[in-house]
Amino acid sequence: MQIGLCDKSRMTGDCHVRFRERLGVRFPRPTRPGVLFSQLRLSVGWGIPNRKAIATGLNNTIYSLCSERKNEIIGYGRIVGDGGFTVFIQDVIVKPPYQKQGIGTAIMTKLMEYINGNYTTGTYIGLMATKGREAFYKKFGFIERPNEQFGAGMIQFIK
Ligand SMILES: CC(C)(COP(=O)(O)OP(=O)(O)OC[C@H]1O[C@@H](n2cnc3c(N)ncnc32)[C@H](O)[C@@H]1OP(=O)(O)O)[C@@H](O)C(=O)NCCC(=O)NCCS
Repeated sequence: MQIGLCDKSRMTGDCHVRFRERLGVRFPRPTRPGVLFSQLRLSVGWGIPNRKAIATGLNNTIYSLCSERKNEIIGYGRIVGDGGFTVFIQDVIVKPPYQKQGIGTAIMTKLMEYINGNYTTGTYIGLMATKGREAFYKKFGFIERPNEQFGAGMIQFIK
């Protein structure tokens, strides 16, 4: 298993090519990063935004990581935010056949290393755990809401 860093964190075609070059893997034909991203989301049963939204979202990502086995991207995680004092961890995904082998932990460890190395004390680090995955994130110092001090995290999706 390899965890590669996409400089500037973008899972753009360009980044993807560099990532493969670093691993010494020949890159037969550029694969659209949005397609790879959609495949990852679909593999864990998540819906996919439209193509334009995905392209914009990936391009505006602060930092991202891929885990690759042979020619397949099997894991991913990214950081979005304001670039100053607020970041969110998003789309931490390991394809089901590869789960429970430590890949998700390796991705989270590197995402946290990046945040701790590039952001200042007091930076707000947010994420929304999927149901049943809270313990996975607690290992990295995240706390559940609501609690005595904080209200619930709240979300909505545009219909
Ligand atoms: C959440 C997710 C990214 C975790 O990825 P993963 O690669 O399975 O993570 P790890 O293998 O590092 O750890 C998962 C569990 O497997 C255990 N594990 C790790 N290596 C193991 C091994 N060799 N044998 C058995 N168990 C193992 C870990 O202890 C961990 O247990 P915990 O969840 O109770 O802490 C993955 O389950 C996933 O993609 N889920 C669907 C998408 C999702 O919900 N993403 C999170 C959005 S917030």
